[in-house]
Amino acid sequence: MTGEKPRDRESYVRGLFSSIAERYDLFNIIASFGFDRGWRRFAAAKTALPSGGSALDICAGTGDLAIAVGRRLDPGRVVATDFCEEMLEVGRSKVSGTPQERLIEFAWADVMDLPYDDEAFDAVTVGFGIRNVADIPKGLAEVHRVLRPGGRFVCLEFSRPVWRPFRALYRFYLFRVVPLIGRVVTGNYQGFRYLASSIADFPDQERLRRMMLAAGFARVDFYNLTGGIVAVHVGVK
Ligand SMILES: C[S@@+](CC[C@H](N)C(=O)[O-])C[C@H]1O[C@@H](n2cnc3c(N)ncnc32)[C@H](O)[C@@H]1O
Repeated sequence: MTGEKPRDRESYVRGLFSSIAERYDLFNIIASFGFDRGWRRFAAAKTALPSGGSALDICAGTGDLAIAVGRRLDPGRVVATDFCEEMLEVGRSKVSGTPQERLIEFAWADVMDLPYDDEAFDAVTVGFGIRNVADIPKGLAEVHRVLRPGGRFVCLEFSRPVWRPFRALYRFYLFRVVPLIGRVVTGNYQGFRYLASSIADFPDQERLRRMMLAAGFARVDFYNLTGGIVAVHVGVK
């Protein structure tokens, strides 16, 4: 996927997630050694949502971040959106029959053209999704548009480990081990090579902070988790 056009990348990403949707959650738990739950809880806490508030989770996939936000927000409303119907379907069945069902609505939406009014949400969240968006500045502009003034955009994403000596080991894990786990869990090796590259190529903490400021956020702070393997950026509109 080098030198690809945004449209090619979009259809590649959608096809990849539709093919791994059923096994995506299992892969996450194994590849992150179970850390992903704590990362999502931390991100959900950073939304600082008022009781009865509304949140939009973009690139929601199978809904784990939306569920973490929903747990903090009762009463309230979470709209979990994605452009891959198969991922949303796994999310819907996960909350079906649970107390989360009345809080979370799963809906198809492309981040590049969100079907919501300006300033419609108290918070917007994204977990491990923004790096997959074909045109990140355009996606960030859409997030900024649908967020109410004073509301927070919380972005949980893989980032750059802060301890330099660890970086080579982490790269080895990303490019050698993650695709193997991907092959065993989902049968797809190449897809996880692509995901590893998308992590390695993604802007580091400071660059993402500047991209969010360029999209119009008044203030952006970030928090490194697990030594900077992931970072949570919080932008205030
Ligand atoms: C790695 S998954 C993350 C799922 C979930 N947020 C989580 O925390 O596990 C990335 C998701 O982003 C979605 N995605 C990528 N580009 C998108 C776009 N332009 N609009 C909507 N969803 C998109 C993919 O379909 C996929 O479900």
